[in-house]
Amino acid sequence: MSAKVYEAINEQVNNELAASHSYLAMSGVCEELNFPGAAHWFRVQSEEERGHALRLFDFIHARNHGVTLRAIPFEGAQGATLLDVFRASLAQEERVSAQIDALYDVAMQQKEFAAVVELQWFVTEQVEEEKSARDIIARLEMAGTDTRALLEIDRELGARAGGGSSTGEAGEAS
Ligand code: FEO
Repeated sequence: MSAKVYEAINEQVNNELAASHSYLAMSGVCEELNFPGAAHWFRVQSEEERGHALRLFDFIHARNHGVTLRAIPFEGAQGATLLDVFRASLAQEERVSAQIDALYDVAMQQKEFAAVVELQWFVTEQVEEEKSARDIIARLEMAGTDTRALLEIDRELGARAGGGSSTGEAGEAS
């Protein structure tokens, strides 16, 4: 694997860990807002991002390189409403999608076909994750300040299964 591609994937390992950290913080904000279902949803998402990091971590080692872990940059998470938190999560996913696209471009330019194949999974995953966040945001926008509707969405978010599958209607992300 070319040094350039290796460096770029190593960077993404760190980016995915940063995303995991950020989602855990969002889970905490949801706890403070008294939405335990959403807090669960973000906790599962945090684990999924760690899974993404480990997937690339394993790939780098399979290609006979080592991984350099860095300090996780973190700006904190905040939000006065559940909608604020999910909008922040969508913005984060859009940033990650841009990172993955740039990484894919480097792998293509360097003709690192094993990396291209590995990264295809991430390209598809980003489409799903952005859609999932947008779907939840749309529902929260419809609910507005209707407490009953918000609690119903929270209940569905709380039904999200951990470890890569999902069961809740509002929890479609893998
Ligand atoms: Fe691993 Fe949601 O980006």
